Parts: sequence; C-alpha cells; structure tokens
Amino acid sequence: MFDAKTTCIVVVGAQWGDEGKGKLVDVLAERADLVVRYQGGANAGHTVVIGEKQFILRQIPSGILHSGVTCLIGNGVVLEPENLFSELDSLHERGIDTTGRLFISDRAHLVLPYHKLLDAASEKSQQLGTTGRGIGPAYEDKYGRRGIRVVDLRRIECARMLLTERVRRANQLLQLMESTERANLDEHVAMLERLAPRLLPLAADAGLLLHRAVKANRRVLLEGAQGALLDVDHGTYPYVTSSNTTAGGAAVGAGIGPTAIDGGLGIVKAYTTSVGNGPLPTEAEAPHGERLRRLGGEFGAVTGRPRRCGWFDATVVRYATRVNGLTGLAVTKLDVLDTFAEIPIGTMYRLSGELCEEMPAEVEALGRVQPVYEVLSGWQQPTGETRKLADLPRQARAYLDRLEMLSGVPVRYVSVGTRRDQIIET
Ligand code: IMP
Repeated sequence: MFDAKTTCIVVVGAQWGDEGKGKLVDVLAERADLVVRYQGGANAGHTVVIGEKQFILRQIPSGILHSGVTCLIGNGVVLEPENLFSELDSLHERGIDTTGRLFISDRAHLVLPYHKLLDAASEKSQQLGTTGRGIGPAYEDKYGRRGIRVVDLRRIECARMLLTERVRRANQLLQLMESTERANLDEHVAMLERLAPRLLPLAADAGLLLHRAVKANRRVLLEGAQGALLDVDHGTYPYVTSSNTTAGGAAVGAGIGPTAIDGGLGIVKAYTTSVGNGPLPTEAEAPHGERLRRLGGEFGAVTGRPRRCGWFDATVVRYATRVNGLTGLAVTKLDVLDTFAEIPIGTMYRLSGELCEEMPAEVEALGRVQPVYEVLSGWQQPTGETRKLADLPRQARAYLDRLEMLSGVPVRYVSVGTRRDQIIET
C-alpha cells in the first residue's frame, strides 16, 4: 500500500465491524512508522494472532505489536483508562515493551464508570445491543460539552469539581431511567487520583506529533474501529455506535486535515457478520448461518456474544466504498468458505417490488428488503497455505473477481487464516 506518494493510509471496516482490521493493521504495520486509533474506544476488539499467542486489543492500536512502531490514541477516541492499563499490563506480561511508543491525545475524552451505568440503563429501553462499555453516554457528554478530558487530569482539583457535577447529573438521569444503580462520587475521584499519575506521562498533543510525522513523509496507518454500517451518520441508525467510523472521521479524530490522507483500505469479510441488533439483509438461514459461525469462530471479541452470520452483501460494500472513498479492499477469512459447495452473494436488494442498488436511509426499509442473490460455485479445497493469487482455486479467484466488480474497488489483500503469514498481496 505504501509508496513514495502514499504515506498516510486509513484502514476502515466496510461492513458491521469485526472484519479483521486487527490482523490487517498488524500485517501492514510492519511497514509503518506510526499507527493511530482515532474513534471509538473499548467497544472495539482487534484480534491479532502471533504464533501461539492471541492478542485482543481494545484501545491500543494494533501496531503496538511491532517494536519499531509508535502508536497514538487520537482525540476522537473515548478512553477508558482502567481498561487501557490492564491492556498495557497484559502486553508487558507477554513481553511487548511499549515504553516510549504509546501516546494519548490530551484532548481525548474519558469514559468513566458512570457512563457504563447510563449505557446499561438506556439499553433497557433502547435495546440497541451495545457493548455496554459506556461509549454512547461518553460521546453524549463530549457533544453536550460536559465531558472530562485527559488534559483535565493535569489539574486534579478541577477534575474533582467536574466529577462532582457529572456524577450528580448521572445519578439524576439514572433515577429518571428508573435504574436502581447509582454512581459513587468518592469512587470516581479515587479512581482518577490513582490513574492520573500513570496516564499523564502518556498524554501528548497527538495531532501535532502526527502532523510532524506526515510532514516528514513517515508512513502512517490510521486504524479505524467498528465498520461503516455502524457509523453514526452513515450506518443503520439507530443501530450504530456513537462515532464516525468512516474514513472522514479519521482526520477529525486524529487531528490532521483530510488532505493529509492518501488512500483508504476497506476491510471486508468474505461473508457478512454483525453483533448487536438491527436489520441484516443477507443473514443466512439455518444451518448455513450456524456453519459460518462455527467455521469462522464468530463470537464477539469484547462481549463473547455469538455473531449473526450471512452472505456477502455487495450493496453494503458498494455503499461503504462510496462513503469512505476507498482505494482498495482487503478480503478476510476467505478460508472460512473453503468447504461450501455453493456461495451466494447478495448483489442488490428488492424493495417494495423494485430493484434497489443503494442503501435505504430508513432502518425499517432495510428490514424489509429482499436480497437478490447470485450463487457462485465453491472451491471445496483448503486455501490457508496459499500465498499467491494465481495459486488460489479457480472458483475462489472467480469469487474475489465478482466481489471486486460488485464493490467497484480493487482487492489488494486476501487473508486466508488468522496467522500473520496467511495473507495474499495481489
Ligand atoms: P456501542 O458502540 O457499544 O455503543 O454499541 C453500538 C453498536 O455497535 C452495537 O450494535 C454493538 O454491537 C456495535 N459495536 C460496537 N463496537 C463494535 C465492534 O468493535 N465490532 C462489532 N460491533 C461493534
């Protein structure tokens, strides 16, 4: 992906999240100098497998597993500090030294325990299927201009005053939502006092660091979390997360201008999955859905929930290509389809009897669409050890060609297993 003119690339999920961004970023980070997370928070679960070890990274960019890579957590992330440190500790325990390689934007907002209580309480009425990590309430506070940011910890007295007001307000809301839970101010204060001395040395003007790196032509990967259909503007609203998961969010959330970004790689699974609620037009009927789930190990990395599984939905990926301005695709988990005799692809929808090639804005309409399927022959042989496109079975290449044609963007990578080396560069 990187060349003399392409030094800053954004990597985004182009479906409903869980497309395998962690693995792709890990593979690409070998050639990068900086990897930046720019939105979302501990709701993400980026899985990377190295040898026998599996790492699930929630907030720390997947590039951290390469010793030469510097990682930034941008201003657009909502940071859960307690979780960050357990993630850091577990990396250190497993021999990954992060010293001097991780910086957190001092403008990033904090996710605090009261956000999780509010998330749980609103989930009772809204039933969106959130991860329960307090993401929505933390972004609500940010945009309501009452968030607490990393920078506020520099004046702990001030943070304490802010907390008093915020915890009081959270408890009023909890009462209003008929929750019996209450946030405890003393526990919040004690937590921030305990964590501030560890967090502040990592705090930096991350946007400035990134700007300087871009100016110096350093190789930068902007690592998106979740997927296009979970974007608060472009996704299947209200069954979305609370940030801009699409490429536009990268500039804002990392603190650079959009003109600094040279290309966009969209990660798509060779089929479709979603965790959480809301319509999923190409959801496979039993027993195919169950078979995809079993073969693909489709259980949420953060919540352990079984993922809903279905066939590749080209309408979704075409839409994601457009709203992200993608310049390439990485197709992951092709090997999961190895044993299927026939593989349907949803090429477009039928809505109220009419053919429809674009995503409807209304979630109710998306719930009513009938996918139009084209059925391709499976290859029924293992692909996990293939390293060249030309060596893939003919039917697998035909499948990839069809995905590429329907999505309108070239396939640049194909992942054929969880290991680092199980990747084909086209
Ligand atoms: P929240 O981000 O926890 O508020 O959850 C909102 C929606 O986004 C729910 O449907 C979640 O299941 C989904 N979601 C959030 N993060 C991820 C992710 O990393 N992968 C897949 N789905 C996610």
